[in-house]
Amino acid sequence: MLHKVRFAILTVSDKGYRREREDISANVIKEKMEKVGYQLIDYKIVPDEKDMIKDVLIGFCDEKKVDLILTTGGTGFSPRDVTPEATKEIVEKEVPGIPEIIRLKSYKITHRAMLSRGYSGIRGSTLIINLPGSPKAVGESLEIIIPALGHGIEVLRGEAYECAEKRKDA
Ligand code: MTE
Repeated sequence: MLHKVRFAILTVSDKGYRREREDISANVIKEKMEKVGYQLIDYKIVPDEKDMIKDVLIGFCDEKKVDLILTTGGTGFSPRDVTPEATKEIVEKEVPGIPEIIRLKSYKITHRAMLSRGYSGIRGSTLIINLPGSPKAVGESLEIIIPALGHGIEVLRGEAYECAEKRKDA
């Protein structure tokens, strides 16, 4: 990794936005990612409103040009949950493997993991990953994805021209 990975956090929560609930999940993300050397560039909290989510995601990608956006909240079945739909509408490429593995491994912790509709994709050179809302789920999901994140971001930034795993197989 040539440069520190620059990341942003977007919390999607009606209660959090109204300051009726402390945003513990964002703190979990910040702590875990800083521990592995990632640099927090921006943090925002919005209610479960599709257009507001999209605006913040686009700003993080196109203006702040962060390498990674981690969202938390709004991935479940509640009628107000629209984080995956908002994300889908602004990405250019889908990254199905990340949410697939989060659900697969999280299912071993709780069967309710299948109820998260979290989505992942790429806009420009920014990777966006939807995480569930609870601090517990956020921590568990990050433990699952952190080992492979660095390589994906290097490739996205054009810093790794060949996949090391592929080279080993050749
Ligand atoms: N994933 C992990 N690893 N651990 C959890 O405790 N909780 C689930 C799921 N994913 C959970 C998890 C629950 S209870 C729900 S309802 C969904 O995430 C959706 O969460 P959200 O609506 O807060 O985004």
